[in-house]
This record gives sequence, structure tokens and C-alpha cells, in this order.
Amino acid sequence: MQNTRLARRAIQEAPTPDLAAGAPLALLTRRPTPDAANEDSRALAAGARALYDALLQANDRPDAALRDQARAFIERWRTEMRTKPCDLPAAPDGLAAWQQANLASTGAAYQAYLASRKAGAPRRYFSSRSHALNFLRAVAPTKLVDGAWLYGLLHDAANPHLNDLILTYVEELGDGDPDKNHVLLYRRLLDSMGIVDWADQPDESYVQGALQLSLAACTDALLPEVIGFNLGYEQLPLHLLITAYELDELGIDPTYFTLHVTVDNAAGGHAQRALRAAVENLPALADREAFWTRVADGYMLSNAGQGTTDAIAAFDRHEALLQVLGGRAGEGSLAHSDYCRIEGRTVNQWLADPAGMGDFVAALERKGWLVPGSDPAQSRFWALLQGEHASMFGVFGDYELQVIYDWIRGNAASDGAPFVRSGPGARAPAPPRAFRHARRAGRGASALSLTTLAEDGSTLDPDLAELREVLGSHDLAEHGAALRRLLGPAMHWGTAGLEATRHVAQMLRAA
Ligand SMILES: [Fe+2]
Repeated sequence: MQNTRLARRAIQEAPTPDLAAGAPLALLTRRPTPDAANEDSRALAAGARALYDALLQANDRPDAALRDQARAFIERWRTEMRTKPCDLPAAPDGLAAWQQANLASTGAAYQAYLASRKAGAPRRYFSSRSHALNFLRAVAPTKLVDGAWLYGLLHDAANPHLNDLILTYVEELGDGDPDKNHVLLYRRLLDSMGIVDWADQPDESYVQGALQLSLAACTDALLPEVIGFNLGYEQLPLHLLITAYELDELGIDPTYFTLHVTVDNAAGGHAQRALRAAVENLPALADREAFWTRVADGYMLSNAGQGTTDAIAAFDRHEALLQVLGGRAGEGSLAHSDYCRIEGRTVNQWLADPAGMGDFVAALERKGWLVPGSDPAQSRFWALLQGEHASMFGVFGDYELQVIYDWIRGNAASDGAPFVRSGPGARAPAPPRAFRHARRAGRGASALSLTTLAEDGSTLDPDLAELREVLGSHDLAEHGAALRRLLGPAMHWGTAGLEATRHVAQMLRAA
């Protein structure tokens, strides 16, 4: 098959020349400057958050107007991604070799990474703990709809050609096990790290999630694209391995990421199923070449928008500080009394203008409230937030505190230490204990969990009783509608959604 657009391209996570030389990604970060490329990416991303929110809200029932918007968003990105080189084989019979070659190069690159770390190289991705937390926040809109691109296939669940893909979707949902549901795992990770305001991000952070939800809303017209998207998404990337390794090292639970290393494996996991689905769904009567071209479009869409390494490289600790302080400016501008003055202006006046946060921080620096590269235990600003007489105690959550703490410490924050309180008896910052070691040490200490706290069999989820009633009836059409609704991207991680998923998982295994 001749298709110049399918010429080989460097895969998205292939290292840039600097990264290939082993330079930590964190060292390459710089403050973004407005330029033409940024303007273009902003224009392409425009409306992504509104579309994401509307599709999630609609769950299984997007109306015609919303589906039109979703389709238009996909077409905008299809056009954009067609301008980029694509490494998918020009014909499906090259897929197996392509997958093996990718796996071999990813494996070799990861081994080289491990060897460099063993030889003393610094972390490649995360310059500090707040850098890692900022990454978890930046990719949250994508991770919180994980698997959604496959949801629309449930309408054709009896089609044997789609079996591999539907099985993949239900496994993304953890087969209804709350400890394995990918979205629920990510929600818990954000909660445990104190990342509360993840939704407050620019359109660029919503592009991938909006594309995934759009594919789900338009699957009846976009089956080849869904198959191609899945093919791209379910391959094992180098960044997943490095992310999991460095999060663990920083004492942050890497389960969400390690789970994807195991479930996406090429021997029998999602990657293998993705490949088989691409081949088995090729049409016998309709135009195969046109179908494959659209599979390639879908594959390219899985690389659209801000990816993992982009989100990591975009971090800048000063920008993160301004974002954290600016995020509280609205409430703060009303909360201070008039005798709190910095350089002649009341704190309320400074905070009334979130865009002027940079000037406020500069003034705080000039007055010695904030000293970059210093010990937070000696910081007047940190003492306002943490410690015995902290007048602003509780204003910021753990994520925000870590950003402020690391900004004060400057380069010393590269040890990854979690923040500590100031005041008498305060500990010095200490490098984190690897998550796997902390978990091993804590094992058996207590069997208490939220499940223990919950009363046996009790639930306040009104959909659960309704689901049980519907499934107890003889109306099979209603069974299907209830299960599809509860397996929707907005619902599947709740109590009723998990129970509905367990029913569907059982049906799939019995099929
Ligand atoms: Fe997943």
C-alpha cells in the first residue's frame, strides 16, 4: 500500500538529542515564551476543556449538537496530525514486526536509563517532589477518563471482532474491582498527594481527554479511528517505565503507572489485543486501504496534544509558585487586614490582581519574606503556613505547600524531600524513602482500611438499588441501557458503576 503520510517517524517519546545524551529532562525546562508554535497549539486546543466537561456530563447520552462538536474537534486534530510523520507500518502485515521493534528499542533505552542511574546520574524526569506532583496534576484530565476511547464499542458488544477491545475496556475499569479501576486509582493518587485543583488547567491539558471522550461519542462513524487510537495508546512507552521508577524513588505510589506496564504487555496484554483487533477488523468487502488510512489517523490522534514528556518538560518552579499563589488570590484578597503591607500596598491590593503575582513575589523577595535557595525553617513566609504560630495554616493543601517549600529550597529540592513543618522540634528535610520500601515496612502494621470502616453491605448510592431492580426484571433492553449508562466514563468508578462492571466482566468471560 502506498501512503506517503505513513512514512516512518520518530516515536513521540523517542529522546531528543539532548535527552539521548542523558541530560535530565528537568534541566532542559525553561519558562515558556509566547511564540508562534504556542499560539498554534493554543488555537488547536481551544474549547477542549468545555468539550471535555460537556461530554463527561453527558456520559452515555451526548445529544446531536454535542456529537457534532466532538466530531469537529476530532477532524481539527486529524488535519493537524496528518502534517506529522507517522511510524505505523504502511500495511497491517507489518504490525507484529513493528511492535517487536518498538518493544526492543524501549527495552534497550530503559536498560540504558537504569545503567546511567546506577552510575550516579540524577533523575531524568523529576527535578523535585513538586515537579513530580505537578506532572500528576498536569496529566490528570487525561488519566481521569482513562479507557474512554473504547466506551462507544459497548453498543456493538455482541460483535466478536470487537471482543478484544471490549475486554480491554472492562479491564481498564478493573473488572469492577475498586483497587484495579484505573480512573479510581488515579483519583486516589491525586487525593493522597493533596492535588485538589487539577481541573483548573488550560485547554492544552484537556486535548487528549477531549479526544478520547469524542471518540466514544462518535464511535458509530469512527471505528477505524478508535482501533488506531487504541493501537497507539496500548503500546509500552519508555516514559511510562521511567515515570514509574522515579515516582517510586520519590516515595510516591507508582501503582497507576506500574499497572500499565503489566497490563499493556505485548505477550498477551492490551498491546497484543490492540494489534489483533486492528487486523481482525479489516473489512473483507469494503475498501481496506481506506480503512487502514483511517486506522493510522486514529493512531496519530493518540499522540495529539500535550504528552507525558511535554507535561514534564513544561514544569518551571517559579511558574508553579505563581500558579499556586494566584490560585488562592481571590479568597486571599478579602482575608487580610489593612496593616499587612508590603512595599506600601496592602496584601489585599496585591492579591486583587492574580496576573500581578510575579510582582508580588518579587516584592516579597525584596522584603526578605521569600528567599530563594534558603532553609524553609528560617523562612518568614513558610512560618506563616506551617508551624506553631502559622497564621495561614490550612490555606494551602499538600501539593501547594510542596511547591512553595521546593521553591524556597531552590536546587536543594533536588533531593526530593517532602515538606516539613517549621517551628520548634522541626525536622530537617530528609530525602524520601522509596515507595516500595515504605510499603513493605508498613505491611501488617494495620489491616484497617475504608472498607473496614464501611458497614457491611451498606451503600448510599441510589443507582445501586436501581441497578439491582433493573437486573431483576425481565426487560433485557433495560438491562443493556442501565449497564451501558453505568459503564460510561463519568459513572464506572462509583459503587454502582463498579457493580455493573462486574456483571459485564462476568458476561465477557462466559461468552
Ligand atoms: Fe489504563
